[in-house]
Amino acid sequence: MNNFEYFNPTRIVFGKGQISRLRDLVPQSASVLMCYGGGSIKHNGVYEQVLTALAGWELIEFSGIEPNPDFDTLMHAIRLGREKGINFVLAVGGGSVIDGAKLIAAGIPYQQGDVWDIVTMDAKLKRGDALPLGTVLTLPATASEMNGTSVISRRSTQEKLGWFSEAVFPVFSILDPTTTFTLPIKQVRNGVVDAYIHVIEQYATYPVNALLQDRQAEGILITLQTVGEDALKQPPDYDTRANFMWAATSALNKLINKGVPEDWATHRIGHELTAFYGLDHAESLAVVLPYLLWHQRQQKADKLVQYAQRVWGLHGDGEAVIRAAIDKMTLFFNRLGMPTKLTDFNINPDEAAERVRARFESRQVLLGELNQIDPDIVAEILRMSQ
Ligand code: NZQ
Ligand code: ZN
Repeated sequence: MNNFEYFNPTRIVFGKGQISRLRDLVPQSASVLMCYGGGSIKHNGVYEQVLTALAGWELIEFSGIEPNPDFDTLMHAIRLGREKGINFVLAVGGGSVIDGAKLIAAGIPYQQGDVWDIVTMDAKLKRGDALPLGTVLTLPATASEMNGTSVISRRSTQEKLGWFSEAVFPVFSILDPTTTFTLPIKQVRNGVVDAYIHVIEQYATYPVNALLQDRQAEGILITLQTVGEDALKQPPDYDTRANFMWAATSALNKLINKGVPEDWATHRIGHELTAFYGLDHAESLAVVLPYLLWHQRQQKADKLVQYAQRVWGLHGDGEAVIRAAIDKMTLFFNRLGMPTKLTDFNINPDEAAERVRARFESRQVLLGELNQIDPDIVAEILRMSQ
């Protein structure tokens, strides 16, 4: 097992009716900027529950944070927050709203330069450099509610970049599974697939004798396989959604990656596909992962065989069992309604391969757990997606 340090300051408040806890969790003296998206919270009672809980608090609203939150939109919120003397940020929504709120919380007090420097990580934020952030999660998928990561898009330059800072771990996150009951099926599908791939990124590398982390990762994968299809059913079942919600948070609250190598190549490539072609985040991953794993099967052989045996109950060894496990995973995604080929989105794999290759080449990017994936290999992987 590799050396590691673990830090996670986020208080999780989980369960039915817990939005009312906001009144204990947000300081009464706070001047709150409540951030949300395109309005889903106004159709499922979440908006009213937040306002009821915080009746009497000084609260200003900022709506319109879009999926794949845009830098220019967030700059409006930052200017509003500075003007109104905001000192607490509350995000109510999915990963995009929470990621956007992280930049808002860090951007309002940031005086030293351009806010974009926070996203490029040139700003070197320290703990305490952002306003406190609380969240009410309505979409299980990203685990942004329990980590210090934020992914920001900049449509004007077709960029999408992830950044991390200990300054933006939420101080609390409320996870009420009933808030997910209004999710469109497509978003449930996206959430299951995104969470599943988060685990694979932290698991399908090479063994370092981290016995507990492997079993934790496998436990999350099996849980997602168990509840994934049921989570699509209507009417929604509380326990199914609760298990899905906690599995998605656990997939990327940075516990299972402790002391183990990580990959993240699928995410880095997927972010470029979203920036160029507008695919949903989870869609951008599902058209890459099956091909990346097969392309990298020698490098990842031990863990892929373990995955086949322990997660899918397959017998055997070598390439045959790896192929069978990747096929099982792909079929699982397809059963959820998730396409797994670039051509399913009418994207030409050769063209996508060249665009992403050129961008990584210009940035001199190397990906994978051993930096073994260079831009030419990225292109080979994307060309397989048909
Ligand atoms: O905007 P509203 O009206 O709220 O509608 C949203 C949005 O249209 C809707 N929605 C959310 N909760 C709902 C609901 N509709 C009905 N009922 C509800 N309860 O769902 C749509 C998608 O929301 P979004 O927040 O974009 O989805 P998700 O949570 O999948 O977040 C995706 C973003 O997170 C980033 C992605 O790159 C992408 O930008 N990621 C963040 C990570 C992190 N912070 O650690 C890691 C991930 O790998 C990922 O990169
Ligand atoms: Zn993801």
